[in-house]
Amino acid sequence: MPGSNPLFATKPLAQLLEELHGEQRLRRVLGPVQLSALGVGAIIGAGIFVATGSAAHNVAGPALMVSYVVAGLTCIFAALCYAEFASMVPVAGSAYTYAYATLGELFAWIMGWDLVLEYAVGSATVANGWSGYFQSVIAKFGISLPAALSGPPIVYDTVTGHFVQTAGLINLPAVLVVAVVTAVLVKGIQESASFNAVMVGVKLAAVLFVIAVGAFYVSPENWHPFAPYGMSGLSVFGKPLMGQVNAGGQPVGMLAGAAIIFFAYIGFDSVSTHAEEAKNPRRDVPIGIIASLLICTVLYIAVVAVLTGMVPYTKISVDAGVSDAFKQVGLPWAEFIIAAAGVAGITSVLLVLMLSGPRVFLAMARDGMVPRGFFGDVHPRFKTPHRSTILIGVFVAFLTGFLPIDALLHLTNIGTLFAFLAVCVAVLIMRRTNPTAERPFKVPFYPVVPILGIFSCLLLMMSLPVANWYRLIGWLLIGLVIYFGYSRRHSELRRRNGLVAR
Ligand code: ALA
Repeated sequence: MPGSNPLFATKPLAQLLEELHGEQRLRRVLGPVQLSALGVGAIIGAGIFVATGSAAHNVAGPALMVSYVVAGLTCIFAALCYAEFASMVPVAGSAYTYAYATLGELFAWIMGWDLVLEYAVGSATVANGWSGYFQSVIAKFGISLPAALSGPPIVYDTVTGHFVQTAGLINLPAVLVVAVVTAVLVKGIQESASFNAVMVGVKLAAVLFVIAVGAFYVSPENWHPFAPYGMSGLSVFGKPLMGQVNAGGQPVGMLAGAAIIFFAYIGFDSVSTHAEEAKNPRRDVPIGIIASLLICTVLYIAVVAVLTGMVPYTKISVDAGVSDAFKQVGLPWAEFIIAAAGVAGITSVLLVLMLSGPRVFLAMARDGMVPRGFFGDVHPRFKTPHRSTILIGVFVAFLTGFLPIDALLHLTNIGTLFAFLAVCVAVLIMRRTNPTAERPFKVPFYPVVPILGIFSCLLLMMSLPVANWYRLIGWLLIGLVIYFGYSRRHSELRRRNGLVAR
């Protein structure tokens, strides 16, 4: 837009599509089934296996089933918007690229930076959950780590909302798993995709096992009271608006539960970061996004119904809710199988989330938003963005080694909800600015779906403890410093528009 503020200059759709034919592209190897498997691989993990227990026990009770419906719907609205964009602009940058095409450079930067938060902090959360499950599996063999190496130095007390010191120094298993996954990713997507396929098979089997076997142990009286903490739990910037609060003043109830277990759905959006590796991205990426999300939504609601039916919510384990429920009904062998499958399943989530961050950086590097020589460098033999994969690996290892799971989870949720919200807004804008562009997939019931998406993302963001707003804002402010210090002066779009010299 000549004459208008370059901060809001948008990257034309035609230019995005033209760039698809450029150099330094990734290999096109993924079909619709592999993309859906990557989606499921990224979705089913620490959220259902770990976070569900404490959310049912402390925040929502059996009404957590409804929390899963609310969070699932929020994701479905956002997924449809992602799918429309992914079919229009099948490049690696996901919401970052969509924002560049619609909201302009500054917002694109914010979005890219926010996605890095989602994927990096999300990976750290997942590695933390992995460590908990891993330790419960080795404990079955009588092995336990020294306290100093088994967890972070602080934990988050969900009741008071404060951090408390522990006997731990570092969460060593979490750090080690991040190191191994980073090494696998540097080696390449094709190997990662087949490794992922095995892991996805294992965890789907575990989830189906939980539903099929657990169903025989359901006692419907465990579903009463259905909503011991109420059906709301809405607060705005920490001020409870509707519903109950716990002893520490934190909101509880069905909505507060939805804001937490929203984490369980994160990952379907990462399918859109693989658009460049898809054989037929315009068709297959929307399929991958929507299919993986729908499969997981149905499975999750069934798992939670079974879990809260097997064990009274007051007795659900807050550390490993799903596997522990089987011990409680007298099936310790099943507990072991589920915990072991949980470890495998959570590993695949880590793989996909850690695969996605470097791809966002890659897209940003091509636009000159981050140093191209580092973030845009694709390994000559492995064809992977190896440098940024290692950098993100180190960052994730640091977060997961020293920070507690709840704080990481909340921060991931707010960052991701923010990205989802922006994608819903971007669909509304793009329909106005590029009404005739080819859209192989269109959001149904337009504009109702994107508007509902915006509303539901905001609702869940509001329902998270207020400290997360400050952390999100802090992260975005760091991003703005980098944008004004570096990116603005190196922007490829500005160079094209003659605003900066080379
Ligand atoms: N949805 C993913 C998980 O639950 C991030 O682990």
